[in-house]
Amino acid sequence: MKKIVVLTGAGMSAESGISTFRDSGGLWEQHRVEDVATIEGYIRNPKLVLDFYNERRRQLPLVKPCRGHELVAALEQYYDVTVVTQNVDDLHERAGSTKVIHLHGELMKATSTRSPNNPTQIQTLTQEHMDIHIGDKAADGSQLRPFIVWFGEAVPKIEEAAEESMKADIYIVIGTSLNVYPAAGLLQYVAPETPVYLIDPKDVPWTSGHRYTHIKKGASAGMEELLELLTKDL
Ligand code: APR
Repeated sequence: MKKIVVLTGAGMSAESGISTFRDSGGLWEQHRVEDVATIEGYIRNPKLVLDFYNERRRQLPLVKPCRGHELVAALEQYYDVTVVTQNVDDLHERAGSTKVIHLHGELMKATSTRSPNNPTQIQTLTQEHMDIHIGDKAADGSQLRPFIVWFGEAVPKIEEAAEESMKADIYIVIGTSLNVYPAAGLLQYVAPETPVYLIDPKDVPWTSGHRYTHIKKGASAGMEELLELLTKDL
């Protein structure tokens, strides 16, 4: 089976009702990144950060995968698909995607403040236990924190994502402004002859040398068009 890698960002979940970061009305218009999405902000005011993620986590049971998520999952009937997402929601998994690499962490997981990437410290939150409060402890006794990669922290899964990108026979980019590294740099690992498709209603600053086909639509309509294109000769 040919291999497809799908790199997704906040625009992938926009049609599920989850706001993006940099569009008008995006999350970074309502909150200062340095206060809620940096390790310094967490150390300075952990309660503010815990509450920011508690608020975003509470939204998850209220939203569902959009058609775009479902069509990305449907690609698995025809291709070996790896989703590399910058999103921390669980919508790709809920739509049926079976191989999802979360570069920036997962909203439904919590970990230790002392050693956030120690696998023995990562725990899955449940509908019954969604919020993290000051005083909640990880297994190692340190304050429990969201399993989210903040600005200024390492992105442990970037090597795995680069490996996957090197092996892609087809590369699809959906709903990311390609503003944030190292995620935005993954295109440099894609072989020059690999066809690249961008699904985004807007133009995106494109720094990689790859030629690409821009399907200037939302995630759902764009995936309808691309799935048709990628399966018509199968
Ligand atoms: N369908 C597809 N794409 C869309 C849609 C839609 N319905 N609506 C908006 N978009 C596009 C926007 O045009 C934009 O290019 O989605 C992109 C969203 O860009 P950002 O808000 O910058 O989100 P993202 O690229 O995922 O941000 C990367 O920044 O703040 C950090 O950790 C955070 O993972 C996030 C990272």
